[in-house]
Amino acid sequence: MNRAIKIILILVIVSITGCYYDSEERLYPKLSNPCDDTEVTFKGTVSAILQSCQTCHSNSNASSSGNGINLQDYSDVMTVVTNGKLMGSINHTSDYPMPKGGGKLLDCEIAQLQKWIDSGSLNN
Ligand code: HEC
Repeated sequence: MNRAIKIILILVIVSITGCYYDSEERLYPKLSNPCDDTEVTFKGTVSAILQSCQTCHSNSNASSSGNGINLQDYSDVMTVVTNGKLMGSINHTSDYPMPKGGGKLLDCEIAQLQKWIDSGSLNN
């Protein structure tokens, strides 16, 4: 093989493999990015999680599909926080497991809601 071609080949191989590195975050995204519950807010986190409940518990659907329980606005969410029904329903430890007819929320989402409550359930 021509010497110049060999050198070019080596350069190509080195430049390709040289950029590869085993980043733990890339290989194990779940392990190195565990559930982030450091900045849990009502507007950013809680509302987003409760978004999946709005088909039955929004301001407009609550009376027809959500047994009058409204989970759209802060003051309404506070009702089920204060009466203790929210966590029991999403942990499936109450008589009314939620979301009704659907799969449980993700463990991380449940942990984030619990963290928000433990931090004083602020309207932040
Ligand atoms: C398909 C409609 C539907 C969805 C989706 C749904 N719910 Fe409900 N939810 C209901 C109904 C209907 C009730 C009244 C109890 C019953 O019939 O199961 C209820 C009751 C509740 C209650 C009161 C439970 C009690 O102990 O009295 C809470 C809290 C609640 N839902 C939270 C949620 C949350 C949080 C989500 C989303 C993660 C959710 N729901 C999703 C329909 C729904």
